[in-house]
Amino acid sequence: MAKQSLIIDCDPGVDDAIALLLALASPDEFDLLGITTVAGNVPLALTQYNARRITHLAQRPEVPVYGGCPRPLLRSPVTAEHVHGQTGLDGAVIPDPTHPLQPQHAVAFFIDQCRATQAPITLATLGPLTNLAVALIQAPDIAQAIDRVVAMGGALGRGNVTPSAEFNIYADPHAARVVVEAGLNLTLIPLDVTHQVITTPERLAALEELGSPVGPAAAGWLRHYGQREGEGYGLAGAPLHDPCVIAYLMQPNLFSGRPMYLAIETDSPLCLGRTVADPHPADPTLANATILETADAPGFYALLTERLAHLPSVSSGERASSGS
Ligand code: RIB
Ligand code: CA
Repeated sequence: MAKQSLIIDCDPGVDDAIALLLALASPDEFDLLGITTVAGNVPLALTQYNARRITHLAQRPEVPVYGGCPRPLLRSPVTAEHVHGQTGLDGAVIPDPTHPLQPQHAVAFFIDQCRATQAPITLATLGPLTNLAVALIQAPDIAQAIDRVVAMGGALGRGNVTPSAEFNIYADPHAARVVVEAGLNLTLIPLDVTHQVITTPERLAALEELGSPVGPAAAGWLRHYGQREGEGYGLAGAPLHDPCVIAYLMQPNLFSGRPMYLAIETDSPLCLGRTVADPHPADPTLANATILETADAPGFYALLTERLAHLPSVSSGERASSGS
């Protein structure tokens, strides 16, 4: 598979962090043009700081990190500290970043990249879709320059913030509607898939035993995150939502899905942020997204563990340690 020109938009967040590490550990698969951050799990000041801590931990400080939108398009902001902790990365302590946030706004970076680059751009979105929506509103022409968008979000079954809605969509439903209606080559990875790839003690142990300091950090974060995101929903472990996006880009055969008509509820107080999907629209040309439905969990964890082992060790003075 040819190297993909990739931009990752995220709100780190524990599962975002694991997804970023997977991408940063895969330079043969990705030309990672930049990481853009958005308010989501925690406020923007923390999501951008956490993204820079992750590139530092992976010893990839050359990957630029950009700050994006600090709030949703219209609705009042919602966050998820109860899942990810007050820092957004509770459960392990990692070093501060050594490189600054880029001065350019994430939306401007994204528009410039879409207009400048010759290579088709893949956009992986791991958080609320505010940055992409603002870019599409400001520069509708970029829709043609984006080869594909793979987004973690939505739910065909039960939501995780309300019975109807999943967090990334619920946090900015109007942005999600702008994106879904933009005519993009869109693949959606909903909770129905990510709840198939949950951590187990054996999978966490395999991560913890990785030679690089990334292993203990990842295991510490996931143990903290699993207390709420896993057990809190009656799951046997923590669902790795965002890493599914990167794994799909690397090994699509680990997943399956089909074209569907997708719409976002933006008006109902009870069902705000609901992803309404129809696999059998009356007119098949109405299908505007590929929505994944299955995941090969053992294959996913084999890829994740094998790849994270490639990340270099930092000096012992900066080794990660389990946090509070
Ligand atoms: O609902 C799960 C999604 O919301 C994940 O991307 C998680 O990081 C949060 O952003
Ligand atoms: Ca996320």
